[in-house]
Amino acid sequence: MRLFSKLPPSIIALLLQATAFALAIFAVRTVELHPTLFIFALSCGLLAATLSQFAGLARWWLAIQFLFAPALVAMLALDIPPGFFLAAFLILLAVYWSTFRTQVPLYLSSNKVWYALEHLLPSPTGGGAGGEGANHKQDANNPERSPTPHFTFIDLGSGLGGVLTHLASARPDGHYSGVESAPLPFLWSWLRIKLGGYRNCELHWGSLWDCDLAHYDVVFAYLSPVPMERLWRKARSEMRPGTLFVSSTFPVPEQAPHQTVQVDDLHRSTLLVWRM
Ligand SMILES: C[S@@+](CC[C@H](N)C(=O)[O-])C[C@H]1O[C@@H](n2cnc3c(N)ncnc32)[C@H](O)[C@@H]1O
Repeated sequence: MRLFSKLPPSIIALLLQATAFALAIFAVRTVELHPTLFIFALSCGLLAATLSQFAGLARWWLAIQFLFAPALVAMLALDIPPGFFLAAFLILLAVYWSTFRTQVPLYLSSNKVWYALEHLLPSPTGGGAGGEGANHKQDANNPERSPTPHFTFIDLGSGLGGVLTHLASARPDGHYSGVESAPLPFLWSWLRIKLGGYRNCELHWGSLWDCDLAHYDVVFAYLSPVPMERLWRKARSEMRPGTLFVSSTFPVPEQAPHQTVQVDDLHRSTLLVWRM
């Protein structure tokens, strides 16, 4: 039971679907019923949703669990070529990759979050985090850009690279790194950085857990509630004193931030800032 609770919700959901299918088959055989395929699928869905409720899955999983088998039967009836499903699966895999395990899907920070981040970067005069960032807007290719960066910044799970490329343009006196594990977002942002000529930006394909945070003055993360406690422990053990850890939206359990920045965007994002 303890192992069960350690599994990602997607794997638990799959196991419960298999259990529901086995129970439905058992019931049909025992009672010698002959339901239509659709009624059988509805029964599987009902059982899977009920089991998911008892297993404590989040409420939105119950809807997915109920609809999964009926949706399969409905799609089969549409007689869509199997290649379509393979292509859809491969595209989703390339975009979401290990989300079923990390529970950190791709969604993007708003432009207003990018602007708010500018104001958290160390000031060009070397006075630490300040509000002067927006006064230093220059082009990324500006030849007058400082050859030695004033500060280093990393976006953990850099998605499509919007945060990095915006900040690299707005504050060319910094050096920007990103790490992204999903192949398609990585490729997209790599091309964005190369084709945009952002020479003060670099991107790594890999896991944020393999990054040494000691190299950075500002560490930014927009992830999900799931990894925050572990990420906080990593940040505490690796980041240098005086550097900034910024989480968009997701708090660290039992760690009050030193500063919060409310962003007036669609999601009412909040930047939570800790000085290490
Ligand atoms: C919510 S998105 C944020 C994207 C971007 N930072 C932004 O603010 O627009 C989170 C990203 O983290 C990536 N990710 C999740 N777990 C990761 C890991 N362990 N290592 C690297 N990237 C990860 C996901 O693929 C996704 O692109």
